[in-house]
Amino acid sequence: MRSQPQVMILGTGRAVPERILSNADLEKMVDTSDQWIVERTGIRERRVAKPGTPLSELASAAARAALEDAGLRGDQIDLVVVGTVTGDMKFPSTACIVQEQIGAKRAAAFDLSAACSGFLYSLQVASGLMAVGGYRHALVIGGEVLTSMVDWSDRDTCVLFGDGAGAVVLGPSREDRGLLGLHLGSDGAHSRLLYNAGGGSLFPPSAASVEGNLHVIRMEGREVFRHAVSAMVEALQDVLRQTGFSLQDLDLLIPHQANLRIIEAVAKRFGVAPERLFVNVDRYGNTSAASIPIALDEVRKSGRAKSGDLLGLVTFGAGFTWAAGIVKL
Ligand code: ACO
Repeated sequence: MRSQPQVMILGTGRAVPERILSNADLEKMVDTSDQWIVERTGIRERRVAKPGTPLSELASAAARAALEDAGLRGDQIDLVVVGTVTGDMKFPSTACIVQEQIGAKRAAAFDLSAACSGFLYSLQVASGLMAVGGYRHALVIGGEVLTSMVDWSDRDTCVLFGDGAGAVVLGPSREDRGLLGLHLGSDGAHSRLLYNAGGGSLFPPSAASVEGNLHVIRMEGREVFRHAVSAMVEALQDVLRQTGFSLQDLDLLIPHQANLRIIEAVAKRFGVAPERLFVNVDRYGNTSAASIPIALDEVRKSGRAKSGDLLGLVTFGAGFTWAAGIVKL
C-alpha cells in the first residue's frame, strides 16, 4: 500500500530579473552563434540580474508570491530553507535575510548547498522536519544569481546560465495530495567536473585567486552531460519504484532545465510524449536550484497542471548531486 503524504504544496511563486540576454546579444560578446546555442542546448534567451543584485531580492519576491498564492502571512511560516550556491554572502544565510524581509518572525532559517539539486534536496529536508513535528508551514525556495559567477569570456559556459528564484509553501497534506516520495543521491568523485573553486577555505579570496580567475564556474560539459542523463534516469526509476507508480501514471514530467538535449534524452528513455514533458529552458537557460520551482509555478499558474495531477520532478547538478520526486498537486 502507498504511504500517505504528510505535506503538500499550498502555494507557489517565482521571480526573474527583467533583463533578457538573447543569443544574439551573446554573439556580440563571445565567438558563438544563435544556431550553435539552440542546436546544442535549446536555449534562446536567459534572464540576467543587474550586477550587484542580491539573491535575497529575487528569493523574497518569489516567497511573497508563494505566500499570497497559499493565502498565508509571513508570520505563519515556521521554517525557511533556501537551496542555492549563490547566496548574498558567505554568511549569514540568505534564508535569514528572506526570513526578515517577509516577516517570518518565528521561523527557523537556513541555506542548503546542492547546486542544481538544491530545491529538491531542500524539499526533502523541509518535509522531513515537518514530519517529525513542530513545523506546520515551511517556505522552500530555490534561487540563484548564477550570472554573478559566470566567466563572460568563456563560451563553453557563459551561454548556459540564467538568474531567478522559485518558492513553494508547504503545509499539512489533505485528500492524499502532497509529496509522495523523494530520492536523493550524490557522488563526490566527480566534484571537479563542475565547480567554482575560489573564495572558500581551499582558495580564500586574494589577489592571486582573482588573477587566476578562480571565482567563476568551470565545467567539463561533455562529461557532465553523460553523467546527467544516466543519473536522472536512475533517480526517476528509483523514486517510481519507491512510490509504486509507473511513468504512465504521471500527468507531467518536470526535469531540471539545463539543456534540451539532456531533457529529451531522459524523456526518450521513458517514452514520455512531448505533451507530458515540461520545457522552459528556451526562455530561462539553466537557473540551477531555481529551475524546478519556477517550472512548478508556471505549470500551476498557466493551468498546465491542476490540483490532483501527479508530477514527476528530476534533477542533476554539481557535486555530483541528483534527486527525483513524485508530487500530487
Ligand atoms: N558556441 C560555439 N561553439 C562552442 C560553444 C559556444 N557557446 N561552446 C563550445 N563550443 C565548441 C567547442 O569549443 C567545441 O569545438 P571543437 O570541436 O572545435 O573543440 C565544440 O563546440 C563542441 O563542444 P562540446 O563541449 O563537445 O559540445 P557539446 O555538444 O557537449 O555541448 C554543452 C556543450 C552544451 C556544454 C553540453 O555539454 C552540456 O549541456 N553539458 C551539460 C551541462 C549541464 O547540464 N550542467 C548541469 C549542471 S549545472 C550546475 O550544477 C550549476
